[in-house]
Parts: sequence; C-alpha cells; structure tokens
Amino acid sequence: MSKSLPLQLVEDKTAEQSGLRRFVGELWTAQQRQMHSLHYVVSYRASFKPELPDFCIQRYSEKGAIVLDPFCGRGTTALQANLLGRVALASDVNPLAVKLATAKTSPVGLDEIVLRLNEIDFCRPVDMSGFTDRLSAFYHPATYCELINLRSQIKHRYDRINRFIELLAISRLHGHSPGFFSVYSFPQISIPPERQRMINLKRHQEPEFRAVAPRIIRKAAQALRDGFSSEFFAVSSANAAQTADARALQWIGADTVDLVVTSPPFLDKVDYLMDNWLEFWFAGIDQREFQSRLVMCRSLDEWSVFIRDVLHEMLRVLKPRSYAVVEVGEVENAGQTIFLDEVVARAAEAVSTPSKRFIVEEVLVNQQSFTKLANCFNVDNNQKGTNTNRLVVLKSVARKAARRTKSG
Ligand SMILES: C[S@@+](CC[C@H](N)C(=O)[O-])C[C@H]1O[C@@H](n2cnc3c(N)ncnc32)[C@H](O)[C@@H]1O
Repeated sequence: MSKSLPLQLVEDKTAEQSGLRRFVGELWTAQQRQMHSLHYVVSYRASFKPELPDFCIQRYSEKGAIVLDPFCGRGTTALQANLLGRVALASDVNPLAVKLATAKTSPVGLDEIVLRLNEIDFCRPVDMSGFTDRLSAFYHPATYCELINLRSQIKHRYDRINRFIELLAISRLHGHSPGFFSVYSFPQISIPPERQRMINLKRHQEPEFRAVAPRIIRKAAQALRDGFSSEFFAVSSANAAQTADARALQWIGADTVDLVVTSPPFLDKVDYLMDNWLEFWFAGIDQREFQSRLVMCRSLDEWSVFIRDVLHEMLRVLKPRSYAVVEVGEVENAGQTIFLDEVVARAAEAVSTPSKRFIVEEVLVNQQSFTKLANCFNVDNNQKGTNTNRLVVLKSVARKAARRTKSG
C-alpha cells in the first residue's frame, strides 16, 4: 500500500523510452538539520538526508512494520524507522556502519553517560608504542592516553551505555572546532596523516591537549536534545542488526520484511576504507576482514550484476505486496552521464524467486541543489557526483500476477 502524500510532481517524459514512469519534484525540504537531533551525531560518507527515509517510510509502510536497510551506513533509515514507530533491521558489510546504526537506535540518558565516564581513570599510564607518526599528526600524547583508556573501558564492558559512548567518541575523532579531540582537521573524512601534517604546517599548529570526557558529554547533550517517545523504545527493542553482505542476507527469513529503504554504493565513487581509517583505528576494526566484500565497482557492467544480486535477496526477504525503495543518483562514467535508476529498474525486472517478482511502480526524483558537503569536495553539478536523489520504487508481487505497470 502506498499513501498519497501531498506532492507536486511533474512527469519526466524522457524516461518513457526506457519504459519507466518517472516523476520529478521537491520531495522534501532542501534545508539542513531539520530532523531529530540524533541523526546528526556522526558523519558518514555518502549518507542520505533523514528526510529521504522519512518520506519513504511514511509513504510505503504502516506503524509496526519491519523496515530493512541492507546498506545501513550510519543508520539513517533504522533511526527514522524507530522514530516513526517501525521496527528496524540494519546491515552493512562494514562493521563500523553496523556499530553506528546499532548505537544510534539504542540511545541512553545523559546521566548514565556522565556516571560511566566518571568511572574511568583517564590519566592511567598507557603503552605509548601505538602512538605512531600517523596518530601524532592529529593528537597530543595526553589526548591519545585518554583515548586509549576510554577504549579499554569500552572493550572491557561492551554494554548499551558504552556502545553509545563509543558512537559519541567516534563522532569527535577529527574536525574543525575545539569540540573535537584532534587538532584542526577535516570533519567528514579521516584524511591521510601526510595531508594532516601539511595542514599543521600551513596553519602553524600542533595538536594540543583536548580532554576527552567533557567533549563527549557536550556532544551527548546535543545529540539527545530532541528526546524519545515510549513508542520509540518499544519498537527499537525489537530491532536487529548484523554485519553482512547485502547479496547474502541469510540472517533474515524469507517473506518477513514490510519495506526496504536503502542506498547502495554507486560504482567506485566513495572510498569507505581510506576515508574512515581513524574510526577503524579507534573502534579496533581490521579492514582486511571485510574489504574484499565492500563493493567499489569500476564498470557499469560489474555494478549491474552486483545490483541484480542485491535485488534478488531483497525480493526473497520482502513479504508479497511490499515495497523496496532503492535510492541512486546519476554518475559520470567514461565521459557519459549514467542514470542508475534505469539500471536498477532493468535489473529488478530480471530477478525472481519461485513465488515472487518485482514490478517497477515508479521512479521519484528529488531535485535538489548541491549540499555543503558536496561543495567542500569540489563536486560540480553533473561532474563527479550526484545532483538528484532517484528513488526506484519496486513492488513485490506474486509471480502469476506480475505485469509491468506501464501496461496496466
Ligand atoms: C551509500 S552508503 C549508505 C549510506 C546510508 N544510507 C546512510 O545514510 O548512512 C553505501 C553503504 O554500502 C556499504 N557496502 C558496500 N558494499 C557492500 C556490500 N557488498 N554489502 C553490504 N553493504 C555494502 C558501504 O559500507 C556503505 O556503508
């Protein structure tokens, strides 16, 4: 069931050739930071605005529904699902993403955070052999010492409170303002140490001591500002999350999911490994364990096969007559603009299970101006990045009844 939300959409006739019903409009506000404060607790590459899952969840599901994101990133769909009274299933091949999504959907109270931090002896001497040149480009030795003490405490007792503290600490690892643990650095990605040293030289700066606990507490107060309803805790207690490849979701049974809202990696546009190296270091994640499964396709053919395998798994786990919304953009590849919605639609029509197949209901295109983040990566419209969100809306139907929407 899809609900009609008040929308001003214009049909894009250029899509008719490829047999798609494509509508363009402003599906949500272009303004920044309009949703729940917890959404903005931590940066993550290529995350979508919370308005996107908010729109899809309200349009394509009911309260109590089970909503899956198999490329969960920082848990945007999962958190918005819980805020809207739906249960969230989240997975990603990157264990960092699963940590972020799990912690974000299990928030704790500010008082619990303060009490737990008070238990830590941040000045306890630590083994400094790990304080290599890479880390000394970012942190003062005394900050490093505090971070190691915090990390040991988190590892020693990995409960809900410490998972949330870990999320807050990860959000403070590098950035512009004195609210971060590092010297002035790049906020959205972990830059390479050589680049950080160049920034230090240019700005005549050296890492000074940044006490860890007060910065975590300040961030917690900001992230928890908007509060949570009892409904949020009721639904989120039924959540599940797993580190998994989206092409192999064995942890989810067939015909169990009411809605998928997700955004797969687009070709090889983002390097999720290099861009998160400080986060992996703090969280103790060994990237060699999953990097071969982290998809960065060089060619469109490779990506088409990947997306077909992903859609096959989505179809298997979806209940009949349920929706999957796959968000993609357009990308520049070998000097050509490629509209990935068309690739997803073609792949969806090629997959089936013994009892179900997909029909392509519609493509909704949110037209937007470039974000602040895209601008700071020097991405120009239609050059290296994406300038629209393209929502490919797929419906799972019983195989007998499956027919293209275009023909009725
Ligand atoms: C576009 S991002 C998703 C961002 C997310 N929507 C958010 O708001 O944070 C794509 C994600 O796909 C993950 N990924 C890459 N290859 C994968 C695979 N084979 N299976 C599952 N996840 C994968 C990456 O780790 C990344 O988190």
